[in-house]
Amino acid sequence: MLPLTLPIFFLIASPISVLACEGQCIAGITRAWLGNYTSPLNTVYQDIAQQISQTLLSAERYHDVMSYLRPIQSAFEDDSYDGMESAIFPSYFHGKCQRNGVDPPGCPNPDCPVVCGTPGSLVHFYPKLRFIAYNYTRNTLGRLSSPGSDAYKRVEGAVLQASAEHRRRERERRRVPWFEYAITGAGGELVHGLSRGRNISHAWTREVESVESVKKELKEILRQTPSLLEKACGGHASEEENALPKCSWEERMKAYILTFP
Ligand SMILES: *[C@@H]1O[C@H](CO)[C@@H](O)[C@H](O)[C@H]1NC(C)=O
Ligand SMILES: *[C@@H]1O[C@H](CO)[C@@H](O)[C@H](O)[C@H]1NC(C)=O
Ligand SMILES: *[C@@H]1O[C@H](CO)[C@@H](O)[C@H](O)[C@H]1NC(C)=O
Repeated sequence: MLPLTLPIFFLIASPISVLACEGQCIAGITRAWLGNYTSPLNTVYQDIAQQISQTLLSAERYHDVMSYLRPIQSAFEDDSYDGMESAIFPSYFHGKCQRNGVDPPGCPNPDCPVVCGTPGSLVHFYPKLRFIAYNYTRNTLGRLSSPGSDAYKRVEGAVLQASAEHRRRERERRRVPWFEYAITGAGGELVHGLSRGRNISHAWTREVESVESVKKELKEILRQTPSLLEKACGGHASEEENALPKCSWEERMKAYILTFP
């Protein structure tokens, strides 16, 4: 009698939820999205670098400007794994696919019309998955590109230094050192005593004003990063079927997802 009850016991005890995206599956899919986003993010960084270079440094040193953006890039690379993983799993995709103890057709794989934690569910709800990955990337990039983040402060420091350097070179190019410029002024008229001091401080005031205006313009430029990402992704940021065409990678990504059991 005992041998007959054994299979029943195994049926009940066997962990049906073993067919879920766990471990390597979670890590692999998270890394695949982050890896695919490298390219649109680079498009954004290049666009930003071009604007900074043209607006604040008279088109000088585009390559240097790319390196000034490095703190934002590094912070994104360092911080994004955990956030991306939890945005996908388990914030949205988790749990069993069974309804009333039965797996609906296509579940757990390869195309499961129930939101659950399996590759088949990720494939079925691909537009949702695509939007989650985009939303996370966009929000994180936006946060890092805002005043208040450490990365932002470092980018700002590098750009301010470069722009001060740029202004100094411009003055040298005109062969008018800043103090001489301050003394002689636009008309080149010599002044004496107190008024000289006043004009030096006037030049200093101008320098401070330049710093403030560079800070303000940099903030405006970096504020565009989220919308530039949307543009790089081909627009239509939504959970619709044909959204974000350049950040979809649908065919290869689905094939990759289904390599996990
Ligand atoms: C996106 O990720 C998938 C899965 O890792 C990979 O096969 C594909 O080549 C990637 N595409 C791009 C453009 O990086
Ligand atoms: C998009 O991101 C915001 C902010 O992180 C979050 O509150 C929201 O739930 C996300 N939406 C989706 C669909 O992931
Ligand atoms: C000194 O500065 C004032 C205004 O700041 C300016 O009007 C004046 O022309 C300057 N004087 C000289 C000699 O440059």
